[in-house]
Amino acid sequence: MSQARPKRRPSRTILAEMAHLAREARERAHAPYSGFRVGAALKTETGEIVTGCNIENASYGLSMCAERVAVFKAVSEGLGGFTAIAIVADASRLTPPCGACRQILWEFCGDIWVRMADLTGRSRTLRLRELLPLPFDQRNL
Ligand code: THU
Repeated sequence: MSQARPKRRPSRTILAEMAHLAREARERAHAPYSGFRVGAALKTETGEIVTGCNIENASYGLSMCAERVAVFKAVSEGLGGFTAIAIVADASRLTPPCGACRQILWEFCGDIWVRMADLTGRSRTLRLRELLPLPFDQRNL
């Protein structure tokens, strides 16, 4: 797992590009029930960027967050070494990953950078460890 690997904060240019791609992915969200559209863009250390959007279902509990769509797409394509994720939504507060997504991000990405942005260009960048200070992982098993 990748928890131990230190990750340098991506440049402003890269973070802006990731937010741009997340914003485009958000346009593809399937969110007819909540109306809350989210896009994500996950970057690897070798520069690949994989996007995701939230995909809801009439059976609400089957809905999937944008972040997990991006992680599962990337992992299923054999990618790893993730360094940062951008999350874009349109709300008065910046949108952080939900608890389930924090857990999944920790498992596959370790202590990555988490860029939260909105449609006005407002943003904040934290490390996942700040959002998940006492993670449960394979060391607890
Ligand atoms: N959602 C995400 O996709 N990512 C987040 O970080 C927060 C929540 C989705 C799940 C659901 O489709 C909608 O937003 C409302 O919760």
